[in-house]
Amino acid sequence: MGKIVLVFVSLLALVQVLAVDAVDRVKIWPMPESVSHGHGSLYMNKDFELKTEGSKYNDASGILKDGFSRLLHVLQVAHVVDGNSSGADTSLLLQGLHVVVLSPDDELQYGIDESYKLSVPASGKPVFAYIEAQTVYGALHGLQTFSQLCQFNFKTSVIEVPMVPWTVIDQPRFSFRGLLIDTSRHYLPLPVIKNVIDSMAYAKLNVMHWHIVDTQSFPLEIPSFPKLWDGAYSISEQYTFADAAEIVSYAQRRGINVLAEIDVPGHALSWGIGYPSLWPSKDCQEPLDVSNEFTFKVIDGILSDFSKVFKFRFVHLGGDEVNTSCWRVTPHVRKWLTKHRMNESQAYQYFVLRAQNIALSHGYEIVNWEETFNNFGNKLSRKTVVHNWLGGGVAKLVVEAGLRCIVSNQDKWYLDHLDTTWQQFYMNEPLTNITNPEQQKLVIGGEVCMWGEHIDGSDIEQTIWPRAAAAAERLWTSYNKLAKDPRQVTGRLAHFRCLLNQRGVAAAPLAGPGRVAPEEPGSCYSQ
Ligand SMILES: *[C@@H]1O[C@H](CO)[C@@H](O)[C@H](O)[C@H]1NC(C)=O
Ligand SMILES: *[C@@H]1O[C@H](CO)[C@@H](O)[C@H](O)[C@H]1NC(C)=O
Ligand SMILES: *[C@@H]1O[C@H](CO)[C@@H](O)[C@H](O)[C@H]1NC(C)=O
Ligand SMILES: *[C@@H]1O[C@H](CO)[C@@H](O)[C@H](O)[C@H]1NC(C)=O
Repeated sequence: MGKIVLVFVSLLALVQVLAVDAVDRVKIWPMPESVSHGHGSLYMNKDFELKTEGSKYNDASGILKDGFSRLLHVLQVAHVVDGNSSGADTSLLLQGLHVVVLSPDDELQYGIDESYKLSVPASGKPVFAYIEAQTVYGALHGLQTFSQLCQFNFKTSVIEVPMVPWTVIDQPRFSFRGLLIDTSRHYLPLPVIKNVIDSMAYAKLNVMHWHIVDTQSFPLEIPSFPKLWDGAYSISEQYTFADAAEIVSYAQRRGINVLAEIDVPGHALSWGIGYPSLWPSKDCQEPLDVSNEFTFKVIDGILSDFSKVFKFRFVHLGGDEVNTSCWRVTPHVRKWLTKHRMNESQAYQYFVLRAQNIALSHGYEIVNWEETFNNFGNKLSRKTVVHNWLGGGVAKLVVEAGLRCIVSNQDKWYLDHLDTTWQQFYMNEPLTNITNPEQQKLVIGGEVCMWGEHIDGSDIEQTIWPRAAAAAERLWTSYNKLAKDPRQVTGRLAHFRCLLNQRGVAAAPLAGPGRVAPEEPGSCYSQ
């Protein structure tokens, strides 16, 4: 009896999915700027090849070649591709991808051109799909889109590209599309971080904000101050400096920048495990001792080391949730404040601005959490990007003040808020109430935040996905192509979520609030 009911429910679900499918056949996520398709089909040749004739980019670093290998891997990982297409009409056999990259340069940096054009003809002799991009990173986005056009054909056991011919013209709406990971609250092993990076590339996110250290632990080796990582949880939960370089390089080869953060002067208690003089006192350990020159020497050493591996234009200096009561109650700090005629809030400002100057001296522009702006916005370096998190309406004030902004309002874009739904993630609009085009340009993008208090390597993927994907479309897709009602994209997002599962990413179901487990038996597409 139970089974019959279940079958019936599943059938209903299937009918629903098919109905949605009929009106929404383009399953690409995030939705490109422009897409057109036909009704033919091509079959991928067994020796599907990469061709780069006419490219000004020589791929000495192998970024494109590796991207192509990963494309083949994600296409082949789902099923055994052992069909014999040698009897097929050769004009329908897709021989490979012809990729033309116009810029010889493959430096990954904020604001690079990420656009691409992808076309797949209906037939030809021989027939090649074609990607043209200004940069190799735009071409990588083109490969991601191409991968989403393909599907395994169960009759012939080969990979098929249905609905040819395809023409896709695409570019991102925002140049900063971030995901925060937090390796202080829980250590994340390298393979976990690399899996997150791979999955980010599937959704065309392009900044991994690495909140490396915080109150609870200091896992990263800092060559200039080798006792800092005494603050790690354990001897195994650490990153060598070479590990950090490896993460940066792994991300860069996938078109993803790494934004490194030290969150000062609050959120830094763990620094004092190795260097107790960074604490105001043994009994009052946070924020960092503002009165001690050594504090700024350490920040200088860290940022000097950072500048050797974290090549992104920005470094994040935190600056949020600073509780200055330790400065008030610690005699030597209080004495210093009096001597310098500063009250606690002036000392907070002094600390943040001094840290900013150190970052500038190492060639960085700065990201700071919004409290710095809320307290002394007109004193911040003009090279500051204000990182919103407390709530809505901040971006508007920031850009009116002429500074740049990243949007991460916690009520909508904090992944650790487990009851925030994917629909809320999707509908969170960074330019809300900002109408002046010059001010709109100052909102450089947004970021979803996977704070680590309650997640670790065991459940990070299903907490990030699929909700981060909803935000990824908001950040990638041009405003007029975004759904006004998230119900319009449910089927397509479910498809992307199942695609992530097929690629080995533990993305959670869509149905229900926030991160959920599957509620009942049924097709992936209806969960
Ligand atoms: C594929 O099919 C052709 C005939 O259509 C046959 O000659 C060839 O041996 C087959 N190859 C394989 C690997 O099965
Ligand atoms: C600030 O820290 C002190 C102890 O260091 C604590 O007693 C106080 O409650 C904190 N204030 C806030 C607003 O969290
Ligand atoms: C600190 O001093 C400034 C400048 O005199 C003043 O505006 C501010 O209200 C003071 N803050 C506190 C918390 O006393
Ligand atoms: C946008 O403006 C409206 C009307 O002033 C206001 O109610 C709303 O809270 C604002 N939204 C944000 C996110 O600032």
